[in-house]
Amino acid sequence: MDITTSIAGIKLKHPVFNAAGPICTTKEELDAIGASAASAIVCKTMTKEPRKGNPEPRYADFGRNSINSMGLPNPGYKAYMALLPQLARHEKPIIASFIGMTLEDSLEIVAGLNEVKEIAAIEMNLSCPNLPGKPQVAYDFQRSGEVLAEVGKIIRKPWGVKLPPYFDEVHFKLIADILNGSTIQFVSVINSPGNGLVIDRDKEQVAIRPKQGFGGIGGPAIKPFGLANARKMRQLLKPKTSVVGVGGITTGGDVFDYILAGADAVQVGTAFMQEGPGVFGRLAAELEEVMTAKGYSRIADFRNKLKEW
Ligand SMILES: Cc1cc2nc3c(=O)[nH]c(=O)nc-3n(C[C@H](O)[C@H](O)[C@H](O)COP(=O)(O)O)c2cc1C
Repeated sequence: MDITTSIAGIKLKHPVFNAAGPICTTKEELDAIGASAASAIVCKTMTKEPRKGNPEPRYADFGRNSINSMGLPNPGYKAYMALLPQLARHEKPIIASFIGMTLEDSLEIVAGLNEVKEIAAIEMNLSCPNLPGKPQVAYDFQRSGEVLAEVGKIIRKPWGVKLPPYFDEVHFKLIADILNGSTIQFVSVINSPGNGLVIDRDKEQVAIRPKQGFGGIGGPAIKPFGLANARKMRQLLKPKTSVVGVGGITTGGDVFDYILAGADAVQVGTAFMQEGPGVFGRLAAELEEVMTAKGYSRIADFRNKLKEW
C-alpha cells in the first residue's frame, strides 16, 4: 500500500494533516502536531501584529460540528519566523498560514516568511477584512485578483490560498479564472462557512459570545460544501494546481471521498479539536482500510475518478 501524495511539488507521506487554526498556535501545540502522524504541520493564521482575539467563549461544539469566532488570536508573524524553524526536527513539511489586514501587511509578512528556509510552503488565508461595506476579500473578486497579483510578485516559496466556500456557479468560475491567472500552486477549500448560528436551547442563548453569536461552522455539517468546492476547483483550475480538501472530515471514508472528488490531500480542523492529535493516524489508517476493501493500492488509482451519471 502506497498512500504518498504531493501538493505544490511537496511530497507527503500520506494525505492527512491539520487545518490552520485549531490547536496550532503555540510551540507546544505545533510540536504535538509534529509528533503526531500528521503528514505536514500548518500553523495558526498569523497576522502582522500579535492579536488576543475575541472574548470567550468563542468556540463551541455542537455534536461533531463546531462554531467559532476566534478573531485570529496569534503572536504575530515575527514570533512565527522564530518559532517555525524549531519544528524542523519533526522532518515534515511546515506550511505557514498568514492573513493581511491590508495588502501592505501581506507584503510585509511574505517578505519575512520568504527568508525562513524551514518553511516549505505558504498558505494565504483570503478570508481577510476588506474596505468597510465590502465583503471579505475572497468574496470580492476584483480585490482578490489584485491581492493575488501583488503577493505573487514578491513571494518566493510554493504558495496557495485558503478560500471560503462558494455556492454559485458564476462565483466558482470567477475565482477559478483569477487563480488560473495567478502564480499559486495549491488551493485549500474550504474555510468555515461564515455567519452560522448555534443556540443553546437550555439557556435560550447563543453558543458563543462574539458577534452576537454568529460564527464559522466546521464539522460534518459542511462536508457537502467542502466536497463541492474541492471538486469544482479540480475541474476548473489548471491540472498542475494542487487541491487540498477541508471540511467535515471525521473518517477515512471522508478522506477517500475528497480524493475521489479530486483532492490531492486533506486538512482536518474540528475533528482534531474534538479528538486530539491521534486523529491524523486514525484517518490515515482508515483510508488504507477503505482502499484495501476496494482493491486500490495507490492514491492515483482513485484520485479525481468520481463517476457521474
Ligand atoms: C477553532 C477554529 C479556528 C480556526 N482558525 C482558522 C485560521 O486561523 N485560519 C484558517 O485558514 N482557518 C481557520 N479555521 C478553519 C479551519 O481551518 C477549517 O477550514 C474549517 O474548520 C473546516 O474544517 P473542519 O470541518 O475539519 O473543521 C478555524 C477553525 C476552527 C474550528
